[in-house]
Amino acid sequence: MSLIKDNTPSAVTPDGAIYFDSAATSWPKPPGVAAAMLDYLERVGANPGRSGHRASIEAGRIMYQTRELVAETFNCNDPMRVAFTLNITQAINLVLQRLLKPGDHVLTSSMEHNSVMRPLRALEHEGVELNCVACDVEGKLNPVDLEKLILPHTRLIVLNHASNVSGTILPLREVAEITRKHNILLLVDAAQTAGVLPIDIQADQIDFLTFTGHKSLYGPTGTGGVIFGERVDIEMVRPLTRGGTGSRSEREEQPDFLPDRFESGTQNVVGLAGLGASLKWLQELGISELRLQEEELCAYLLHGLKGIPGITIYGPKESIQQTATVAINLAGYSPAELGLILDDEYGILCRAGLHCAPAAHRTLGTFPTGSVRISLGAFHQKRDIDSVLQALQNISRVNKP
Ligand SMILES: Cc1ncc(COP(=O)(O)O)c(C=O)c1O
Repeated sequence: MSLIKDNTPSAVTPDGAIYFDSAATSWPKPPGVAAAMLDYLERVGANPGRSGHRASIEAGRIMYQTRELVAETFNCNDPMRVAFTLNITQAINLVLQRLLKPGDHVLTSSMEHNSVMRPLRALEHEGVELNCVACDVEGKLNPVDLEKLILPHTRLIVLNHASNVSGTILPLREVAEITRKHNILLLVDAAQTAGVLPIDIQADQIDFLTFTGHKSLYGPTGTGGVIFGERVDIEMVRPLTRGGTGSRSEREEQPDFLPDRFESGTQNVVGLAGLGASLKWLQELGISELRLQEEELCAYLLHGLKGIPGITIYGPKESIQQTATVAINLAGYSPAELGLILDDEYGILCRAGLHCAPAAHRTLGTFPTGSVRISLGAFHQKRDIDSVLQALQNISRVNKP
């Protein structure tokens, strides 16, 4: 089954390589994304919300349309509770740095990306208390273990929805129940799942849903944001940057309303125009339908990998328990070496190493060298997977000196 009816765009690059690095950023982008960006640049061009003329109003309309599409994608009732940032790293930093205070306790998992770990480690030096719940060797989190670490002053739980290394999906709903029971806030790093798994900010009881536009939402780089759940009083979170918003220009104080409280300076309208187009494309295709397609392809990849001598697969090894991101190693080769051979000799583009997630690699037992990550997206076909499997099969047959 493939939802992509024709072969264009495909995951094959103009020089014949196959792109398997969707977890870093998705490529290709859906039809319409580049056109929407070009349309903004060539037809509109103005600064949104700054001037009263028609071009500025049109730029504001484009931006608001994307805000609405983001809200719809995650079932948020109020588009104004979507604040745009340049990527998820900035969105996570906004919440962590501007919500937490010395004396607060925060809980996270041992599978987090450095976008979470680095701000948290810095906050630890400023008096925020931090505990990381240990996930198992497949990256799975047991909510009971997490609950045991809750203290009277625990303010926030921060979790990725799925690992960027092994694809392991964390039990969001169970964790959300725990946060409600103990009156703790929940920040979700949905970098790897926004656009891959259906996420409903209300039903999933998420307080801060952070997303990045350029991965599985299929938008351009330079787009992302945070959606504030209904429980969040925005006064709790101070702005990360302050400056011009085009609103309340008579005042030297930052506006206190959403989204202007968090959106100072000219926004990436060209990127947001592209993100709007990719979100429309996702809505037409259906995130659940796309998930089924990726699950099937991931199962096919896992099955093939299991038959290749010398391959170790990390993570759940079950397509239903993970995203279509698979971490492997091949006996006799370092991840860096394998990644290079795949690229140089077979035109297979993967990411090797630690994937900005040393904690996750420690958990999976692959620190310090890491693994090779094969990550799929909407445009992969079975024949692409056959190519990567054939390449690994060939490399595994070579007797290294
Ligand atoms: C789980 C996770 N969190 C955060 C990030 C950071 O994303 P960005 O570079 O778009 O801010 C990534 C990107 O690899 C990720 O996989």
